Amino acid sequence: MLRPIPRAASTAIPTTNFSTRSLHPRHSSSIAPARPQVIFSGIQPTGVPHLGNYLGALRQWVKLQNEAPSNATILYSVVDLHAITVRQDPVQLRQWRREMLASLLAVGLDPKRSIIFYQSDVAAHSELMWILSCYASMGYLSRMTQWKSKLALPESSSLLDPSTRTKLKLGLFSYPVLQAADILVHRATHVPVGADQSQHLEFARECANGFNHNFQHVLVPPETILSPARRVMSLTRPHLKMSKSHEDPKSRILITDSRDEISQKINSALTDSIVGVTYDPANRPGVSNLIHIMYHLDETLADSCEALAHDCRDLSLRALKEKVIDTVNEQLDSVRMKYEELTRADAHLLGDISDEGSHKASANANATMSLVREALGL
Ligand code: TYM
Repeated sequence: MLRPIPRAASTAIPTTNFSTRSLHPRHSSSIAPARPQVIFSGIQPTGVPHLGNYLGALRQWVKLQNEAPSNATILYSVVDLHAITVRQDPVQLRQWRREMLASLLAVGLDPKRSIIFYQSDVAAHSELMWILSCYASMGYLSRMTQWKSKLALPESSSLLDPSTRTKLKLGLFSYPVLQAADILVHRATHVPVGADQSQHLEFARECANGFNHNFQHVLVPPETILSPARRVMSLTRPHLKMSKSHEDPKSRILITDSRDEISQKINSALTDSIVGVTYDPANRPGVSNLIHIMYHLDETLADSCEALAHDCRDLSLRALKEKVIDTVNEQLDSVRMKYEELTRADAHLLGDISDEGSHKASANANATMSLVREALGL
């Protein structure tokens, strides 16, 4: 069943499993035409993306770019203002921004079809953040817990605790408001993300509905598009998600890793001592994560993770790892080559792409801001 595209007046809180079928305009004889789709997503420039970013988000971004209707507007942002909610070294950040842009092109984003830009180049993101923060409830924000993991604080830590209050900066606490502004300033109808972003997307819908209720129906509550590989787990601690911030580099495969690095990381992935292969994420998280990665990298291998595990049931864990290594290499070889080509290319190439992207993104965002200012009486 296809979902209708959310409109400014909608109060639905929809989440869609990824399927570009649901992005095609519905053929209808109704008088009001469906609003053209606007697809938006973002990634922080905090290092080269890993397999979790790739399977949970980037690969879907490319699929959407290639399959969305031609009248859709597609925007992908390197969200550098989000990255500075934790302390960054300026030299490193500058390099990471460029590396992220090169990574987005290397996985297959095409600046002729997608608007690719640095968040900090489009001032309207910050302006709308301020406006939304004037209406965002501290109560709601304090129930969103990402700041605890960013500060490596236990789940039990509380805002009432003076040492927590000293460590927690305003920007990190209000991170979800900036994320809501990123989405709403482009009046995005669809936002492709991994499962860890669901709570933030729900907050963005709350912000849009609240604004529309109190002022005019200007903002669009977006629909979440979850990729089938919602959560890729760490190779070394498979009960945790794969993340750029874990201290052990062997916990993640970067999309630019060499064949040797990929092989070493998968060979040292934590599994168990049970004989044979089964897909059982609760009891065999390490083995199941390897199956999950292999299945989502190449869905032609089987119909499901369970079926793939069944096909591999008689393999030793060593042989399973070899199979996973081959699949990862097959998928990432071309990404790595494209990335190397881009980083060796003329230094102006990436700058020209981001300049053009920020120009188009600013035009799109400014159109929303005129309506927002008007609605507020500014
Ligand atoms: P970030 O930079 O942490 O991650 C970028 C995307 O990768 C997905 N992802 C994963 N998916 C599956 N398994 C994993 N282990 C995994 N790790 C990361 C994330 O879900 C995300 O889709 N707050 C966002 C950035 C952001 C944003 C936005 C996203 C800022 N503004 C507006 C969407 C719309 C973040 O930190 O993503």
